[in-house]
Amino acid sequence: MHWLTAVISAFLLSACTKDAPLNFLHPEGPSAVESDRIWDLVFAIAVVVFVLVEGALVFVLFRYRQRSDKDAPRQVHGNTRLEIAWTIIPVLLLIGVAVPTVGGIVRQSAEPPADALRIDVIGHQWWWEYRYPDEDVITATDLHIPTGRAVYLSITSGDVIHSFWVPKLAGKQDAVPGRINPLSMKADRPGKYLGQCAEYCGLSHANMRLTVYAHDPADFDGWVENQKAVPAVPGDPLAARGRQLFLEGKCAGCHTIEGTNAKGQTGPNMTHFASRTTFAGSMFEVTDENLRLWLEDPPGRKPGSKMPNLKLPEDDILALVSFLQSLK
Ligand code: CUA
Repeated sequence: MHWLTAVISAFLLSACTKDAPLNFLHPEGPSAVESDRIWDLVFAIAVVVFVLVEGALVFVLFRYRQRSDKDAPRQVHGNTRLEIAWTIIPVLLLIGVAVPTVGGIVRQSAEPPADALRIDVIGHQWWWEYRYPDEDVITATDLHIPTGRAVYLSITSGDVIHSFWVPKLAGKQDAVPGRINPLSMKADRPGKYLGQCAEYCGLSHANMRLTVYAHDPADFDGWVENQKAVPAVPGDPLAARGRQLFLEGKCAGCHTIEGTNAKGQTGPNMTHFASRTTFAGSMFEVTDENLRLWLEDPPGRKPGSKMPNLKLPEDDILALVSFLQSLK
């Protein structure tokens, strides 16, 4: 059995390495650091309680086990002092846990500083949409933020309940239809941070991932400038044909491309699709091959995908891939 324990432990503990993308024990921003400190405190208290309670249990099991019919322990009923003690001690412990926890919740949902970057986050089955109201930018899947600046997320959902979670930057926040839940985060260093929907939301819940890119402020401004521009009409004939297919076919009914008649709101905004690194809920990297496979059969690649199989001819798929890749 030891080998089985070792194998299972190896799998479980591999999630604890510093580089594990969803490991909240190695926070990289002040909001996540605060959550981590509270976690450390609660964990320490829990360990002490566990050792004392289990220790007492094991002690009683051995000390008072029945050795023969004669040595049954003295039978007692009730002990007022003991009962008061084991009522008061847990109350004190819970207060000790509640004060920093509630304080943390209040601080993390407080109004942000005036210079905070505001982003509206909308959960969809099964991808994340981001709207930057002050920058007039709408994007999906990859979230871009500047380093060293407070980011204030207003989180909601377009369909069912989701939960937005980027463990290294902040705690979880539910995305509930008809409600706006706040979440503050800040990244200390540039980098790539992975996230995952943390509330079961249907068939592709596990495939509802996201990637956060934290940039130096100047790089972030550059990213915003690029997102605000209307993408150039491609000169390449294949891409141009893809553009025509997109705008005149079914694509435009569900997707928006700024500066064109494609104004659909069901699927992700595609204006600068090729500037993203991943698509379909961060499930696939943006490559020609992955896009081709996706367009052939979206629900076959991602269970439950709201994008139907349009039974596109191979020629059309290649043209559409070429067009999508031109949307830098
Ligand atoms: Cu969205 Cu789970």
